[in-house]
Amino acid sequence: MVELTLPRNSKVGKGRTFKAPAGAKRVKEFRVYRWTPDDDANPVIDTYELDLDRMGPMVLDALIYIKNEVDQTLTFRRSCREGICGSCAMNIDGGNTLACLKPIAEVKKAVSIYPLPHMPVVKDLVPDLTAAYAQLRSVEPWLKSDTPAPPDGERLQSREERAKLDGMWECILCFCCTTSCPSYWWNGDKYLGPATLLAAYRWIADSRDEYTGERLDALEDPFKLYACRTIMNCTQTCPKGLNPAEAIGKIKQLQIERKG
Ligand code: SF4
Ligand code: SF4
Ligand code: FES
Repeated sequence: MVELTLPRNSKVGKGRTFKAPAGAKRVKEFRVYRWTPDDDANPVIDTYELDLDRMGPMVLDALIYIKNEVDQTLTFRRSCREGICGSCAMNIDGGNTLACLKPIAEVKKAVSIYPLPHMPVVKDLVPDLTAAYAQLRSVEPWLKSDTPAPPDGERLQSREERAKLDGMWECILCFCCTTSCPSYWWNGDKYLGPATLLAAYRWIADSRDEYTGERLDALEDPFKLYACRTIMNCTQTCPKGLNPAEAIGKIKQLQIERKG
């Protein structure tokens, strides 16, 4: 019989319940994942009954209200509150998204909130993205050219060349896509995942970059690129409406074409 060792955070218990304040009229329940890995205890789900009349309309507003008014020990990341920094990415109501862009009203029953799936947890809703950032760095997501820039100007592109980057430059590196990808869940140590591959294609497609061949060589690998099975979770979940699965398909197409 096969014996599996479950990760330390796989058993989730019931935590505390924080009751709604007296007189609250629009009460909604928020069930939030709580875990401090260093504590040597299993994670729990804490329940917060909140008065919606005391906060803004987004899930991030509820988390900030909890932190400020109910339970200062809750830990999460956020910065811009405008869907730009990517730091509030988490799993809300079963889907990866940005807490600052997710209206509470979109969730019909209790709002369940977990960290991005299949990543190590630093604390509560904060995932450890160290490995994901190292993968991003490995594709060298910056302009590479041996031609010196014109001394009195910029490296220019035509409008058509610039338009090829639309749908890629908008990526905010929230990793909602990567952490929704089953291939990444199982092979995240070898497969680069959709966010990093989108970043790779952004530079492959850039007319000013002179390292297209080397970039494609680096991705010619059974896992780094080809572990993508076109399941499309990445594109479905992207809170910015981007299509990393299409970018991955274009890299694969270029790999085929150059073998010619
Ligand atoms: S299309 Fe590829 S990258 Fe996107 S979820 Fe599916 S396997 Fe993952
Ligand atoms: S492609 Fe979308 S989901 Fe993926 S990292 Fe970029 S913005 Fe986030
Ligand atoms: S706080 Fe910046 S994207 Fe949500």
